[in-house]
Amino acid sequence: MEKLIIQGNHPLNGEIKISGAKNAALPILAASLLSQSSIQISNIPHLQDVTTIVSLLGQMGANITLDERTNIEVNASQLTSFHAPYDLVRTMRASILVLGPLLSRLGEAEVSLPGGCAIGTRPVDQHLKGLQAMGAEIQIERGYIKAKAKQLRGTRIVMDIVTVTGTENIMMAGVLAKGQTIIQNAAREPEVEDLANFLNTLGAKISGAGTSTIVIDGVEKLGGGCYHVLPDRIETGTYLAAAAITSGKIKLKNTRPDLLKSVLVKLEEAGAEIETGIDWISLDMKGKRPRAVNVSTAPYPAFPTDMQAQIMALNAVAEGSGSITETVFENRFMHVQELQRMGANISLKGNTAICTGTPDLHGAPVMATDLRASASLVLAGLAAKGETVINRIYHIDRGYECIEEKLAQLGARIHRLP
Ligand code: UD1
Repeated sequence: MEKLIIQGNHPLNGEIKISGAKNAALPILAASLLSQSSIQISNIPHLQDVTTIVSLLGQMGANITLDERTNIEVNASQLTSFHAPYDLVRTMRASILVLGPLLSRLGEAEVSLPGGCAIGTRPVDQHLKGLQAMGAEIQIERGYIKAKAKQLRGTRIVMDIVTVTGTENIMMAGVLAKGQTIIQNAAREPEVEDLANFLNTLGAKISGAGTSTIVIDGVEKLGGGCYHVLPDRIETGTYLAAAAITSGKIKLKNTRPDLLKSVLVKLEEAGAEIETGIDWISLDMKGKRPRAVNVSTAPYPAFPTDMQAQIMALNAVAEGSGSITETVFENRFMHVQELQRMGANISLKGNTAICTGTPDLHGAPVMATDLRASASLVLAGLAAKGETVINRIYHIDRGYECIEEKLAQLGARIHRLP
């Protein structure tokens, strides 16, 4: 199994480009099943999760052309299957995103239940409840969601909790439904808005995406079109945190500061000097050690749960103590034990982690347990004295494009061992 080897304790310095957002690319690719015309999507990141959803679309009969850059062409005019098998779904929970489009386009869908995962049980009840309210008949049989609906009907759906892929699934189902679908208590994440913009480019009638009420007026069919995926705000935040933790100075291009205001505020509290333009962000620690910050995760626009582990790594080396409360997922502190192996002082009380920083984090062999936990270990390794070896890095490749190349470009001493 591949490993990342990091020689730490060197400040990051330089410029890199941010990739397209994984969490926008996945629903956009799933939504391309709704159209019978050809669609070109650019700024797609090269990631394992993207490969998984592309395999799923291929399995349904969609024709997919990839070029050597970041462009994908999807033609789903001839779908031959509505079956999303366990083998693919189990590797990526976001595979559930094909449920709404398949049901809407073909009147039937069979999608494996994603099951549990390292960061909690993550049920899909809200997805199913919304689709049932639109007239779908749903049964769970032998680990599969079996959904049928001759014609989905628009209705008002009040989500019990804010769910990102749940909102996206219902929004996609509403596009070709009869009448108007209203989603209340919708997720406001920028990736939900990006999906709506993509669908509107193809002829959908969606308004309010990015707010907590989304209105979808059903249309007969969608056309083709071209779309450029928005930048990855979590990748952006991760590299900014990497610069802050190493007392470095970096500039990130092809990104959007408006997507991660809550993260920028916390990095400024940690002592970073941040400057922004429309599509760039620079961060300068002026050689100083960061200060610990208090963070509580919540749905957008609050501090993202997908940045929690990285901020924990920052607190681990910072001056002072900071508390981090995780309110979105029930079991998202898997990185704590690994950070402790590197010398971090962290104590857990329920869903809150109190961390008192130390300037003496030391390299150690550690194990990546999920995508963002892995990122926090990379960050800790960059700041720690000596060598850190990160095992099970396939988690990182699910969500970070060329992470060691980008970090090496910023001066990090990092390489991959096959
Ligand atoms: C998406 C993101 C993920 C991010 C998360 C929260 C994608 C592909 N993934 O995941 O990176 O960490 O949002 O910002 O966009 N829940 C239910 N019932 C449901 C659905 C969700 O109880 O039917 C719960 C979950 O267990 C969790 C919370 O709602 O506690 C939020 O989950 P959700 O927003 O659905 O996460 P994902 O969409 O899976």
